[in-house]
Amino acid sequence: MTSRLDGPVKVTGRAKYGADNNFPGMVHGYVVLSTIAHGEIAAMDVTAAKSAPGVIGVYSPFDSLELRTPSFPPLGETWVPLQDREVTYYGQPIGFVVAQTYEQARDAAMLIEVSYLARPALTSLRDGLDSAEDAPSTRDGSPPSLTVLASGVESIEDALAASPMVVEATYTTATQNHAAMEPHSAVAVWDSDGLTVYSGNQGANIQAAELATALDTDPSSVRAVNPFVGGAFGGKGRTSAPAFLAAAAARALNRPVKAALSREQVFTATATRPATVQKIALGADTDGTLIALRHDSWSSTPVDRSFVEPTSHGTSREWYATQNLAISQRMVPLNIPPTTFMRAPGEAPGSFALESAIDELAVALNMDPIELRLRNDSTAPPGRDLEWSSKHLDECFRVGAARFGWADRSPRGRTDGDWLVGLGTATAMFPALRFPATVEVTLRADGTAVVATSGADPGTGLLTVLSLVGAESLDISPDRITPRLGDSALPPGGMSGGSTATASAGSAIMIAAAEVIDDLLALASSPGAPFDGVEVSYADGRVLGGGRTMTFGDVLRAVNRSSISATGSSAPGEELTKHSFSSFGAQFCEVRVHRWTREARVSRMLGVFDAGRIINEKAARSQLIGGMIWGVSAALHEGLEIEANGRLANGDFASYLLPVNADIPEVDVRFVEYPDTLHNAVGAKGLGEIGIVGMAAAIANGIFNATGIRVRHIPIMIEDLL
Ligand code: MOS
Repeated sequence: MTSRLDGPVKVTGRAKYGADNNFPGMVHGYVVLSTIAHGEIAAMDVTAAKSAPGVIGVYSPFDSLELRTPSFPPLGETWVPLQDREVTYYGQPIGFVVAQTYEQARDAAMLIEVSYLARPALTSLRDGLDSAEDAPSTRDGSPPSLTVLASGVESIEDALAASPMVVEATYTTATQNHAAMEPHSAVAVWDSDGLTVYSGNQGANIQAAELATALDTDPSSVRAVNPFVGGAFGGKGRTSAPAFLAAAAARALNRPVKAALSREQVFTATATRPATVQKIALGADTDGTLIALRHDSWSSTPVDRSFVEPTSHGTSREWYATQNLAISQRMVPLNIPPTTFMRAPGEAPGSFALESAIDELAVALNMDPIELRLRNDSTAPPGRDLEWSSKHLDECFRVGAARFGWADRSPRGRTDGDWLVGLGTATAMFPALRFPATVEVTLRADGTAVVATSGADPGTGLLTVLSLVGAESLDISPDRITPRLGDSALPPGGMSGGSTATASAGSAIMIAAAEVIDDLLALASSPGAPFDGVEVSYADGRVLGGGRTMTFGDVLRAVNRSSISATGSSAPGEELTKHSFSSFGAQFCEVRVHRWTREARVSRMLGVFDAGRIINEKAARSQLIGGMIWGVSAALHEGLEIEANGRLANGDFASYLLPVNADIPEVDVRFVEYPDTLHNAVGAKGLGEIGIVGMAAAIANGIFNATGIRVRHIPIMIEDLL
């Protein structure tokens, strides 16, 4: 049980986040946002703003900071502000005011007069679906449709028609905002070496590359620094508007520039999780065996982008054994803020639909929902030959059911005083992925070691993982390791996204450590060195040979070296041709609905997860608890309300509902631990995102068990339960 190394500096306020950096001569930028959802900016009168106290620069599409559009494979293009006069959503960055203080910049921004040539805006997914008829546009970035049919079956409709039991329903999920605790912000400094940007993100080398392209400057002269990130979860995967603007303005003004979004600005000037509409049809035999699964999804999409919430692809393509599968994904272009990855993109809203539908099928078949799920347990994703490298979902359900008291569940719930009490369950899955990563391991003459990579720790615990895997690989105690991350000057560490960081960096650490140990042994037995001519080996932080041992620090001192370093790189490779990889989980919850007020409260939660090897149980548990709480939030609280004119009705923390401590019971997390070394040498399968997956469905299923009311949208409100 290791507490995270950065915990004390974070909770005592000593951790320095991007906007905590200050430099002599630094000035402050304020981002100006549009107040229409669709149209063209006809004119911007900045005269008053320019002569306001403290103002140094005012930038707009008419007097812009030149920025190019970066593209970072495989993430695609990202958007840079102020390059044209088109407005495609309410709250779009359209200007940047730089002044001596933040308050002066903000005051001056209020003096800018914008005139628009407004055009009609389409902001509601429901209206967008109607006007798009049955074939909403698909563009690049929309995952393709996929159909897998048993031999002799002509169509998914035929397979459904031939199924003795069919359940068909439409589910919808709300737009959600990231609103990470650290608002998007940046401090940019140019000097003779180039640009340094301090800004929270999910991969310093990605941010540095995007800034270099945007500013059309040599990538080697751009450094991104982010030792601490106050939450990200997909919302800081790409470089933010404040970072682009601060960097460009700092160059234009030749002064350090700080730009930070206000909390309200984060709601529109960054990116959100799309709203979805999902139609599911399940066909089954009377014993519960799935015969056919059809899942068609639509997600809200900004008119000029192409991110799709991959609900059908993230769930139905992978989750159950079925002979016949048809999935599709479509975009509904709207005048809404940008959409992007948010924790378990695809799986989180996708599992609400699929796992609700499975529960509906269990009710229709009068079958236990766990039994139904295990009857359709898959050994490989449908239509693919590659079996799961390891899958212990059945054990997750068995362990969870016993621990949660599932056997006492009645199909019609129970009552406890004025409360109607129900139990719900759902499957959770999230693919086990990893990205290319490079790590440098350094042995030092003082007997300590450094493990360094540019990757980010957005609160996930990667810093501590570097230390633990480094210690294990070097066979020394973790307190002798100095982990370093969050700096693009370090070896490229991939991205803290997709639940990949431990598997990606961990594998590279093992390779780098083996390399540096080889170098140490070669050095120790080289001519004139302490083990000259002796057969040597390494254990316990020491070189062994000829009946003697020496610590690596002593060896380095003996040969007059202060340190030796080696890098190791790992990337997904051959394993992808041999197996399919996923983490698995079983989610359980007890929900209470008040007989008279109809408020729904979660009173118990349990998640049992198969995520391969658990490197740091405390951090892993925290990740999953956080994800499960986010699932409660999705089920009962969160949803961005977009008005017809594109303005957000609840775009701030005063009105965007989130669970507070009183809404969350004790959260129980267990692991079934089977290291998956077919996936990577460390054996970790990833667990950042799977905690949220399944939770919303488990709660909706629990509400049905308690009340007999099936709610097919989230968030579920009191009025849904009247
Ligand atoms: Mo991810 S959605 O960047 O955890």
